[in-house]
Amino acid sequence: MLFSPYTLGDMELKNRIVMSPMLMYQAESDGHVTERQVLHYGARALGGVGLVMTEVIAVHPQGRISESDIGLWSDEHIPGIRRIVDAVHACEAKVGLQLAHAGRKAVLPEGCVAPSAIPHSEGSATPSELTTEDVRALVRDYRDAAARADRAGVDCVQIHAAHGYLIHEFLAPMSNRRTDEYGGTLENRARFLLEIVREIRAALPTGKPLLVRFSGTDLIDGGVTAEDAAQLAKWLEQAGADFLEITSGNITKEYSGDVYPGYQAKFVDGIRSQTTLPMGSVGSIHSADLAEYLLRDGGIDLVFIGRALLRDPFWPIHAAADMGVEPQLPIPTYARATGPYQRGF
Ligand SMILES: Cc1cc2nc3c(=O)[nH]c(=O)nc-3n(C[C@H](O)[C@H](O)[C@H](O)COP(=O)(O)O)c2cc1C
Repeated sequence: MLFSPYTLGDMELKNRIVMSPMLMYQAESDGHVTERQVLHYGARALGGVGLVMTEVIAVHPQGRISESDIGLWSDEHIPGIRRIVDAVHACEAKVGLQLAHAGRKAVLPEGCVAPSAIPHSEGSATPSELTTEDVRALVRDYRDAAARADRAGVDCVQIHAAHGYLIHEFLAPMSNRRTDEYGGTLENRARFLLEIVREIRAALPTGKPLLVRFSGTDLIDGGVTAEDAAQLAKWLEQAGADFLEITSGNITKEYSGDVYPGYQAKFVDGIRSQTTLPMGSVGSIHSADLAEYLLRDGGIDLVFIGRALLRDPFWPIHAAADMGVEPQLPIPTYARATGPYQRGF
């Protein structure tokens, strides 16, 4: 399964390996992409990944986690994104772009914003509370950034609704004490995310997939519960999402669950009954064997691989060797990188 093709809308992947979004803190201070980032993503495409997902890309300058994040809040950012897209495409992989706003987790001279003036953790800055009009403007920022991503040629877009960033802060009661239509009931707390999904869906061509990364549970009182996540999955499908990727936690600094190979895969189970959408899993999926098992028996269609691909851009080639599979490589000659007991010629 790991090396079988997969189609989502108009996007055809050569295998089920997705490079999980990982922020590298390498952009220019105005959000522009650097040469190093183009090479970073190109290297994973050369290594045989089917879908290269970018790191968080900010929809607003104040939505950056740091001053070294990539931005897409203006048309001027499009050519840089296009360079990543072209590099990945030149290596026969597809590219997705992760849209995000850091919310109260932004560490910027201009401070941070959030649904409510509650800091992320002890020692974190107290965010300014967004007005209702600010929230509506941010929905438009997401939509406009997605439209720019489309113009830059990305194959799909992912909304980051997890890990304690802005959308997650709206979803979790502990970070959202609002009294307007964006706070209170789960329906209200989900409104920001669902409005973003609807707006982006309308801004993208029909066949261009929209993925959502969200928390299957936060494992903490006042966080997103498994029941919330199941209901969210249903609403996300109705709002026009095409694919759900399930992660967990980080609405606060501490993660209270155990961490072991594939530890987040179980969170897919509670959601499955509520949606017909395909799903993906992430989290310590570092071996080909585990990836294969999850694809066959874990109810998922794509595996998201993070740190294993940071350690080794050629992870897919090694996985294929472990499984005795011939991977489809952009440079087929890489397959001749055999070991010392075979002759290299
Ligand atoms: C250095 C680093 C940066 C990360 N940046 C992002 C990010 O930009 N967006 C995101 O959704 N997750 C981010 N993550 C989380 C990963 O995408 C992934 O969910 C997590 O590392 C678990 O997968 P793994 O065990 O395969 O690494 C980051 C993780 C690491 C290690």
